[in-house]
Amino acid sequence: MSSISTRKKDHIDLTLSETSQYRRPTGFEKYQLKHNALPECGLDDISFKSHLLGREFDFPLFISSMTGGHGEATNLNADIATFCEQFNIPFGVGSQRAMLEDSAHEKSFTIVRDKAPNAFIAANIGGAQLIGGMTTYSLKTIISSIQANAIIVHLNPLQELIQPEGDVQFSGVLKGIEQLAKYSSVPIIVKETGAGIDSSVAKRLLNAGVKVIDIAGVGGTSWSRVEAARISQKRSREMVANNLTLQYEQEMQDRFNEWGNSTVFCLESLRELEWERKFEIIASGGIRHAQDMIKACCLGAHFVAVAQPVVRVLKEEGIKGLEKWYFLWKKEATMIMTLLGVCEWRHLSEDYIIPQFS
Ligand SMILES: Cc1cc2nc3c(=O)[nH]c(=O)nc-3n(C[C@H](O)[C@H](O)[C@H](O)COP(=O)(O)O)c2cc1C
Repeated sequence: MSSISTRKKDHIDLTLSETSQYRRPTGFEKYQLKHNALPECGLDDISFKSHLLGREFDFPLFISSMTGGHGEATNLNADIATFCEQFNIPFGVGSQRAMLEDSAHEKSFTIVRDKAPNAFIAANIGGAQLIGGMTTYSLKTIISSIQANAIIVHLNPLQELIQPEGDVQFSGVLKGIEQLAKYSSVPIIVKETGAGIDSSVAKRLLNAGVKVIDIAGVGGTSWSRVEAARISQKRSREMVANNLTLQYEQEMQDRFNEWGNSTVFCLESLRELEWERKFEIIASGGIRHAQDMIKACCLGAHFVAVAQPVVRVLKEEGIKGLEKWYFLWKKEATMIMTLLGVCEWRHLSEDYIIPQFS
């Protein structure tokens, strides 16, 4: 396996553990949903019809970019794609860098379109890979391999800085995104990977031609924690205990474990952008149940996205477990909408949440 494949495989194993998650909360706990004792609607009246990039979906849930580029990823991607095809759920594949560097990894991505001929599928590439511009060949390859409906560019400076083999040059990423938006045949979504995109970054991305911002803020998977766990797998406790500089290095890395902007801080900050109607917001980073999802929409999100819980349930309980997880999530969402007295997803607003001052 190439070093990228090994790393991507390690990431799946490490993110399954609770230690990979931020201790800091998303911020949704600062809000309470407003109970309506006279809802005047029933479970059957609730509609989650929602739109993203001009396409209609039955439920506003996006499966975040996660995997591809190694053997196990082929099966995981096949299962996620089958699930997304069945329920008309949009889905982003993991970084396609491994496939561009070694065509042997293509299958783990192409399987997605084989299993989901009609689903909305997004390609994925790192901002670092856009520095200096992407070749026309690479651009065509990432799109055509999965007949992508959009390209997701992930920004992950925190992870790159903690990762021993990280790409630590970040100047030129915005220019690369601008070029990509100009030449790509499909729209561009930009996401973080867990440390959040606030309004100042979003403004620069929107000016560069980006159509959708996926916040991916603090409160869920912490890439600093994941990378730190990967490093510590290679070091024994004794090595650290007996070596002062290793100890210092470990402590220094630990101080970044909780770094980033919370999901709710980012949502509140994006909401203030006057261009509100000209772009779409995906809320992600620590979205763990339907209450988070509905609060996110009240705070301005058009869609929500989830990563870690999907791979976790899939690994532990297979595709049947994933289906059950989805039904339960949808059931909870339907019950909440009924208790709010809101029949349609698009009618959710700040009127349905109460800020908690404690
Ligand atoms: C196993 C795993 C692999 C991931 N790989 C990628 C990736 O290749 N590209 C990317 O944009 N994000 C990747 N992510 C980040 C997620 O898309 C998401 O932004 C982040 O995990 C926060 O969401 P969560 O709190 O729901 O996990 C990965 C996440 C997980 C759990």
